[in-house]
Amino acid sequence: MGLTIFAGRANLPLAEAVAANLQTGLGRREIAHFPDGELHVEILESVRGDDVYVIQPTSPPVADSLLELLLVADAGRRAGAAQLTAVVPYFGYARQDRRRSGREPVSARLVADLIQRSGFARVITVDAHTPALEGFFEIPLEHLTAVPILARAAQSQLPPDGVIVGPDLGATKLADRYAQLLGLPVAIVHKTRVTGGLVSVSGVTGEVRGRAPIVVDDMITTGGTIEAAIRTVLSAGGRPEITVIATHGLFVGTALERLSALPIRQIVVSDSVVVPAERPVPVRVASLGPLLAEAIRRLHQNRSLSDLIAHG
Ligand code: R5P
Repeated sequence: MGLTIFAGRANLPLAEAVAANLQTGLGRREIAHFPDGELHVEILESVRGDDVYVIQPTSPPVADSLLELLLVADAGRRAGAAQLTAVVPYFGYARQDRRRSGREPVSARLVADLIQRSGFARVITVDAHTPALEGFFEIPLEHLTAVPILARAAQSQLPPDGVIVGPDLGATKLADRYAQLLGLPVAIVHKTRVTGGLVSVSGVTGEVRGRAPIVVDDMITTGGTIEAAIRTVLSAGGRPEITVIATHGLFVGTALERLSALPIRQIVVSDSVVVPAERPVPVRVASLGPLLAEAIRRLHQNRSLSDLIAHG
C-alpha cells in the first residue's frame, strides 16, 4: 500500500519536517476559499488504495483548521484512499470534555464524532489536554507524548538546583513525569480558573525556596496560568530564574509580552503549532517532526508504538 502525506494549512513547516523525515514529499492538494468564506479542498493526485495521513493541528483559527482537516478526509475517502489517519499534533477542543454547568455542549465528544464521521480510521495526537479524549473516539487514538523530547531540549540549560512546578492540580502527573526524567523534586500550585482568561491561585505545595522553578504545562494559551504560577513560586521564595516547558505554545494575543515581564530564562515548546516569529522572551522550539514521522512509519508497517505513547 502506498504512503501519502497531506497537510492542511495550519502548520506547513511541521508537515514538511515530517515528510522530510520519511524521505518523501507532501501530497498535492489545493485549499482555497469561495468568495463567501466557504472552504474548498481538492486533492490533486491519485490516492486510490493508499495509506493516507493528514497533518493538521486544530490550532487558531480553530474552526477553520478543524474544517480543513474534515474536508481533506472527505476528499480522500471519496477518492478511494484505503485508510485515512488524522495527525492532529495539537488537539483543540480537548479541554471541553464535560459540562461544567447545565447548558453546555461536550465539545470534545462532538469534535471526535466529526473527525471519525469524516472518514478517518485512526487519529494520532500529542499530549492531549485530557486523556479522556480517547474514550470519545470509537476509532483508535494514538496518544503520543513530547515530554521526553522537551525535557531533553531543556536539560542543557537547566540550573542544577531546580524544582519542577505543576501550575495546577491537573498538571500533577505531567510534573511527576518531568521530575522523573530530570531527577528533580516537584511542587504544585493550587489554581482555580475564574474565566477562560482569568485564573486565581491559593498557594503552593512543595519546597521552592531558594530553588530555580521549572514550570511545566501541556499548553500555554493566554499565559495566565504560567504567570500566576510564576508569581506564586516567586512569593514562596523561588529564585527569579524561571524555565517554562509546555508541549503546545499557542501564545494567543499578548501572551508572549505578558510572559516577557517575568524573570523567565527560557521557554521550551514543541512545534505542534506555529510559534509566533516575534518573541520578546527566549523561546526554544523542539520539533515533533521525527516523533510523528516515526509514528507514521510504524503504523504504516503495522509495528508497535508503545514506547512513543503518553501513559496516564
Ligand atoms: C489548563 O488546565 C491547561 O493545562 C493550561 O494550564 C491552560 O489551558 C493554559 O491556558 P492559559 O495560558 O490561557 O492560562
